[in-house]
Amino acid sequence: MGVKGAALLVALLVGASVLAAIRSCSADANTTTLPIKPKASPPSPGDTSRKVAAVFPLEGNVYPRGGFDVQMSFGNSHNLYSMNIDSGSDVPWVQCQMPTQAVYPQPGRDKIIPCDDPRCKAVLASTGSKQCKSKGPCNYQVQYQDSSAKGVLIADTLTLHLTNGSTVRLLVAFGCGQWVKVTETGALTDGILGIGFGEISIVSQLSSQGLFGKITGHCLNSNGGGFLFLGDNGRLPSGITWVPMIPSDHYSPGPASLFWDNQPLGSQLITVWLDSGTTFTYFGLHPYNSLISTLNGYVSTQPLKRAYDDPSLPYCWRGPQKFRTIADAQRYFKILELRFANGAAPMKLPPVNYLIISSKGNACLGILNGTQVGLKPDENVIGDISLLDLMLIYDNDKKRIGWASTNFCRV
Ligand SMILES: *[C@@H]1O[C@H](CO)[C@@H](O)[C@H](O)[C@H]1NC(C)=O
Ligand SMILES: *[C@@H]1O[C@H](CO)[C@@H](O)[C@H](O)[C@H]1NC(C)=O
Ligand SMILES: *[C@@H]1O[C@H](CO)[C@@H](O)[C@H](O)[C@H]1NC(C)=O
Repeated sequence: MGVKGAALLVALLVGASVLAAIRSCSADANTTTLPIKPKASPPSPGDTSRKVAAVFPLEGNVYPRGGFDVQMSFGNSHNLYSMNIDSGSDVPWVQCQMPTQAVYPQPGRDKIIPCDDPRCKAVLASTGSKQCKSKGPCNYQVQYQDSSAKGVLIADTLTLHLTNGSTVRLLVAFGCGQWVKVTETGALTDGILGIGFGEISIVSQLSSQGLFGKITGHCLNSNGGGFLFLGDNGRLPSGITWVPMIPSDHYSPGPASLFWDNQPLGSQLITVWLDSGTTFTYFGLHPYNSLISTLNGYVSTQPLKRAYDDPSLPYCWRGPQKFRTIADAQRYFKILELRFANGAAPMKLPPVNYLIISSKGNACLGILNGTQVGLKPDENVIGDISLLDLMLIYDNDKKRIGWASTNFCRV
């Protein structure tokens, strides 16, 4: 009962403030005043799917936690599962076997989705899993960058509190899974909420049931927390930069060139993915090498010393005094920028989007060497750190990705 009460309270608060939060997320919003009441807009016939959203507060941070989690209610609505939001994968799944943590109970036979079900085809397509035996259960295995999870696809209810005040319970397919290889960040959560564009992702499933448009997004706060939304309730903020979503396995805004302090880092265009399931940003071989050599040169002109004794990340620098927050360090660093080949406004990455302050008070580079973790030399992954303080929208209906910088990633 206690859990349910708390969840409802959160839902009410969220319902009341979501419009304000989304509206305030424009490029120049730096006010904390909430508009009193959203104006009721007249219903537009044939467009009902775009008039409602579900908004969830997020917990977590880039460092030290390593990710952002949402509480979702699968099955019995009293149960909330803390799930890592992952725009880099499709499959939603909860831990079904893990002795030390309250997790989703072992499902009965009636909940297990068989192999010949279209939802099974969708999960196999998203994970590249082997086809299963036609009468058997739908077993899958998802491969993440540094870990993997396997499970069986099941169907159960998802309880959602909508921005129009209604609560809906819908039947959705999700994995009853377990980690095969656990990472530090993976082990903390009760599951992964895949919000990619594959048919099995939670966004696609809810959109195919007609509840929302196929649109989702997040706002990750650099001070921790933020929000995730599904659907758009017709009130996207103004001041958004939109770029076409290019055909790719991941959400990708297309080729871009990198700039440091207005100087190009190499001459090649790079392709980037946006991935809320990855803590740090990873650059491919050439961009990473150019970034490091440019940074090494730049840092030598600043009162910064490489802190070789700091194991937090590969590149850490000590300042004249210990840094307490990113604000202490940012004057010593410049802006990194992604300039898109299609001419869209650049994505600017100030120090908060590529540095963390370690527990030793050093500034450490949150952009890592992708080739070292097995990414292909031309793959670049924009992770949570570089998505902080951005309202980011994956609009699969219009095949576009939008963002606006904001200091209001709060519900
Ligand atoms: C933020 O607010 C201050 C004071 O109200 C104003 O001077 C400043 O221009 C605003 N900044 C932005 C980016 O809107
Ligand atoms: C809220 O939206 C849902 C989904 O469109 C709909 O089923 C429900 O009736 C709406 N509730 C209200 C109070 O309008
Ligand atoms: C990144 O990793 C690759 C592969 O291990 C290596 O060749 C390259 O030198 C590394 N770059 C930097 C700047 O460390």
